[in-house]
Amino acid sequence: MPVTATQWLRGLRGGSQTHLVAASDGHHYVVKLTNNPQGLRTLVNEWIAQRILAYLKIPCPEVEIIDIPQALIDSNPKLGIERSKTIHPPPAGWHFGSRFPVNPSLQAVHDIVPDIQLITCRNLHHFAAALAFDKWTANADSRQCVFFRARLLDVLGEAGDSTDPEYAQRGLVASMIDQGYCFNGIYWDFPDAPGYGLYYRPAAYRKVRGWSDFEPWIERIQHFPESVLDRALREIPRAWLTPQDEDALPSLLEKLLRRRAKIPTLIEATRERYPDHFPNWR
Ligand SMILES: Nc1ncnc2c1ncn2[C@@H]1O[C@H](COP(=O)(O)OP(=O)(O)OP(=O)(O)O)[C@@H](O)[C@H]1O
Ligand SMILES: [Mg+2]
Repeated sequence: MPVTATQWLRGLRGGSQTHLVAASDGHHYVVKLTNNPQGLRTLVNEWIAQRILAYLKIPCPEVEIIDIPQALIDSNPKLGIERSKTIHPPPAGWHFGSRFPVNPSLQAVHDIVPDIQLITCRNLHHFAAALAFDKWTANADSRQCVFFRARLLDVLGEAGDSTDPEYAQRGLVASMIDQGYCFNGIYWDFPDAPGYGLYYRPAAYRKVRGWSDFEPWIERIQHFPESVLDRALREIPRAWLTPQDEDALPSLLEKLLRRRAKIPTLIEATRERYPDHFPNWR
């Protein structure tokens, strides 16, 4: 069931003109509206991609359907999408929410950090994991994440390996956000390119020494159960799908499963094109 947006805080930067809201479950969410300029399908992409990332145990925000009541729209004239200097309010109803990992008025979350901090990230190995995921899903964007201080164990919840002391220590954690351009955004096809999914800082891949850093993730993807995709499909609000989308989705996901075998070739193409990102690859 959706959670209800109770307070509008502010609009955020970025092409889809997201908004930060407080919600009835006590959390805050970054909301992508159904009338966002990047298209309705990006909400579907976000939903499916989060279910995949969560199954693969790659840190990413929880997601929820966020119900925005008409009264909240009426009392917040900036809550909407700006086009030609006019703000177009969203329809009341169900939108996509990516959970803010902390209370934004109490703790900082950063879009970027300097390399000297980036390399201290508790989960630097998840950048290689995310690259395998992004190659698989043809994320036609560069990799984006947010950084905050936490225990990896808490971020991954049940998924954490509690015997690993790294997971129990508080430190900088990267959580993968913005999966709107997976499946090539609104196009729902898979045009591969070496730069897709790559994080802009080579330091994120500093610990990558070779295929062994990718193999566990590729292995998990090879064994990815179709049932996770089926469940994700059932969860998506029908209001986010046109009849054409309903028809197109099953074959999109079939193609996704079929292209798993290509991941090593796609990573190899990235390494060839961007060798400076993998200085320690042996
Ligand atoms: N779960 C989250 N927790 C904290 N911050 C978030 C979260 N999701 C998104 N953000 C913030 O909101 C901004 C916009 O989100 P996102 O990147 O998903 O949308 P976008 O409009 O496609 O952005 P861009 O065009 O910059 O890529 C991000 O740059 C980030 O600062
Ligand atoms: Mg973004």
